[in-house]
Amino acid sequence: MRLASLLSLATLASIGIAKTPGCGRDIPSKYPKAGSSESLSLPDSDREYRLFIPANYDKNTPTPVYFSFHGASRDMVEEEDLSQFSNPEFNPNGIAIYPNSKNGYWLSSPSADKSRPNDLDFIDDLLTHMEETLCIDTSRVYSAGKSNGGGFTSVIACNATVGSRFAAFAAVSGAWYDTADMKGVGPCAPAKRDQGYPFLEFHGTVDTTAPIDGEDDAKLPVIDVLQTWAAQNGCGDNAQPTSNETIFDDPLVKHASWDCNGLKGIVQHYRENGNGHCWPMPVGQV
Ligand SMILES: *[C@@H]1O[C@H](CO)[C@@H](O)[C@H](O)[C@H]1NC(C)=O
Ligand SMILES: *[C@@H]1O[C@H](CO)[C@@H](O)[C@H](O)[C@H]1NC(C)=O
Repeated sequence: MRLASLLSLATLASIGIAKTPGCGRDIPSKYPKAGSSESLSLPDSDREYRLFIPANYDKNTPTPVYFSFHGASRDMVEEEDLSQFSNPEFNPNGIAIYPNSKNGYWLSSPSADKSRPNDLDFIDDLLTHMEETLCIDTSRVYSAGKSNGGGFTSVIACNATVGSRFAAFAAVSGAWYDTADMKGVGPCAPAKRDQGYPFLEFHGTVDTTAPIDGEDDAKLPVIDVLQTWAAQNGCGDNAQPTSNETIFDDPLVKHASWDCNGLKGIVQHYRENGNGHCWPMPVGQV
């Protein structure tokens, strides 16, 4: 027992997990009980989110956090159901957070409410609030989203202050609006960091809402976004994937992966033949 706890301490120390101020504190009474979720609002703000705490949450163990951003004109409740991040089958041990947008749209959508405090301010404040009230592993905070929410993960990654607090970024059927600066909120200027910005995207070939090859004057081709993140991670401009393999035959699913600047698989993409603007599912499930 003693040896085991010494070993786990050594492991924690060696990978440098920083405890947050919420470590050692009981789960606040207005939060969901471990194993459930609840809708809440950020103190001193009108911004809302749903919070899921895993059944095995331990107030002394730094815990990973998965953000899941809803698509345009959807909301946090639907996103929880769609992404299944509160389902222990997919997420056995992480806190899941489903933020709500102001008006149904996230920054980067031309329809978003861009007034300050904006969505980036909200996510920065929300993550700080989570670190103050729960025991969080700051090296394992992840950003994922659907459609406009997927595009918003790029907005987060592009912001040096907020993006540097997240370990990796993922989008399902991401929508990237074709604005001069890629995302409509300023230049893409992530903070420099050795581990790069891991970026993952899933897209169906028959998506008519956010077409994989883009939409004239409206949305960018997904390949442009993948190559932008490859370039941000040290690959050259318009880099071709390092590998592009068939992982499923019928319907055809191709997995493309970029190695950049020694960072293996730092950008990854799943191209799903026959899938629309939908969350990818194992064949046979709806
Ligand atoms: C990055 O986000 C922070 C926090 O919301 C904000 O204060 C800052 O203005 C943003 N920077 C840019 C370049 O948008
Ligand atoms: C991977 O290969 C398929 C053809 O099999 C192609 O349609 C797709 O564009 C390729 N992916 C990338 C990212 O180049």
